[in-house]
Amino acid sequence: MTTHFDFETHVDRRGTGCVKWDAPLPYGITLTPQQRKRLIPLWVADMDFVAAPFIREALQKRLDHGVFGYTIVHDSYYEAVIRWFRERHNLELKREWFLHSTGVVPELTAVVKAFCAPGEGVIIQSPVYNCFFSSIQKNGCRITDVPLLRKDLSDGRFTYQMDFDGLEAACADPGNRLLLLCNPHNPAGRRWSEAELRRIGDIALKHGVPVIADEIHCEIARPGTKYTPFASLSNAFRRESVTLSSPSKSFNTAGLHMANIVAERPDWREKIRKVIEVNEIGEINPFGAVSVEAAYSPEGVLWLEGLNQTVWCNYEMLVERFGEALPDFPVCELEATYLAWVDISASGLSAEEIEAQLIQSEQVWINAGKMYGDDRFIRVNLACPSTLMREGIDRLVNGLSALSKRHLP
Ligand SMILES: Cc1ncc(COP(=O)(O)O)c(C=O)c1O
Repeated sequence: MTTHFDFETHVDRRGTGCVKWDAPLPYGITLTPQQRKRLIPLWVADMDFVAAPFIREALQKRLDHGVFGYTIVHDSYYEAVIRWFRERHNLELKREWFLHSTGVVPELTAVVKAFCAPGEGVIIQSPVYNCFFSSIQKNGCRITDVPLLRKDLSDGRFTYQMDFDGLEAACADPGNRLLLLCNPHNPAGRRWSEAELRRIGDIALKHGVPVIADEIHCEIARPGTKYTPFASLSNAFRRESVTLSSPSKSFNTAGLHMANIVAERPDWREKIRKVIEVNEIGEINPFGAVSVEAAYSPEGVLWLEGLNQTVWCNYEMLVERFGEALPDFPVCELEATYLAWVDISASGLSAEEIEAQLIQSEQVWINAGKMYGDDRFIRVNLACPSTLMREGIDRLVNGLSALSKRHLP
């Protein structure tokens, strides 16, 4: 490992009100106190790494100031975000295009409300992050799913591609008003290529469908590769899209609740601003703003290098162990995100049954694919120290081997 940042210390998060470690178990499962203590959570997309020292120092400085009143975003914040996207992602942004809120999920919901009346269609590509479904449903809108197409790879893994014919048909339907793009894609692990993004952008533009690009996973990519921001590909794509992002996913600061919206078109920005105001989701907190500014610094680049190396080592460990012990459970290729997607259909069980049984028998907690639109898959969070990952993978292998022995003919 070439990084000088710490991705190996296992910090005990239990008892801190931490969703990943302390939340009640699903399906009404109860464990004995000893079993609960033993539980390894590899579910929700939250990392077990301690935040980067430069973020903690910035937060400490703000904490030491001692006054935590209502907060606005100030000049240095914009300078940091704009510089980061210009230098790292070749995306030129202007300060006046920004709006803020407490998270990308509130933004997704706000944008759907701003653009779509109840009953109107929103295009998604399943399997996809569960809040894509809920942001549409909670606004009384209609989901138009154009599922990703699975492609098996020669090494036993698989990947996904976009269904461009399906997207063309969906965008041509005037009942569909918006396209939600997950770039990079959770849980398919795709870092969409420039060619794929150009193709989806051309289709959306041709039919006048705004593209809402959720780019929260943008910094987590296989070492040596980088994601392409949808809006960076042309002036037209930038103008006819809205980008939602936050460093919270990649710097593990989700609990500080701060995210950005970039909308170049003033009319679109105004529509979104109104919903943010009506729903009162624009009030940010001082620590959120400080954490974003600190993350988007030259040290942030180095920290991400170390993070991505750690995540991909963990991914390779998972692929190797599953390849040896569970060849009937193919793992999806991972280009981006720290979330591995595994096909468990050979078990003959639903992913929800698997999730429940793994918690009970092995005390390892993964996500069932149902919430992402496909219950033949499980999602495994790879963002933890390698020792914890190794133990988590051992338990997955034990549990899945036992389950498949029991259920396979
Ligand atoms: C694609 C995607 N968008 C948004 C979020 C969550 O965003 P936030 O915590 O800022 O609401 C997640 C979390 O996993 C995600 O995967």
